[in-house]
Amino acid sequence: MKMHAFIAGLLMLSLLSGCNPSPKSSRGFRLPEGDVERGQQAFTDLKCYSCHQVDGVKLPASTAFNLTLGGETRVVKTYGELVTSIINPSHIISPEYRARMEDVKLSPMPVHNRQMTVEQMIDLVAFLESHYKLVQPEVATDRYYP
Ligand code: HEC
Repeated sequence: MKMHAFIAGLLMLSLLSGCNPSPKSSRGFRLPEGDVERGQQAFTDLKCYSCHQVDGVKLPASTAFNLTLGGETRVVKTYGELVTSIINPSHIISPEYRARMEDVKLSPMPVHNRQMTVEQMIDLVAFLESHYKLVQPEVATDRYYP
């Protein structure tokens, strides 16, 4: 009984805090629509290809890291995550990179915020988003049930 009251209390609290976001909440954050082609241009202009290839896109060869962006994924990369990966690289470390390195605290990706215009950032996100394909997990058809 007491446990139920506790859980109900927690629920109430989370509902209440949901109605009253903190000043740091991202509620209301919305960037204008980006342009995929201009995004690809920005990707080349800012030389992102020196460390990244993009699935299905012809780009000059990478000279470091060679981390592929885009392609099939089972987990959605949210808009907020993509923007954050670009303007605040050390806040989220890509799972692919983490799998290669042990104990990554800082991203080796340079911060481009002084050179990159806001428009380039918005277009970069549109460009990258358009190259991720969400795939459904498949149901195994090769199982043997004796
Ligand atoms: C000097 C190499 C380097 C350059 C240049 C570079 N990056 Fe990165 N980037 C990395 C590395 C290493 C990671 C993995 C660590 C991390 O997540 O920050 C990464 C991660 C990312 C991620 C997150 C990927 C994921 O799966 O979560 C995105 C998105 C990204 N970069 C976009 C860009 C864009 C756009 C540019 C050009 C403006 C750029 N990068 C330039 C090295 C680079």
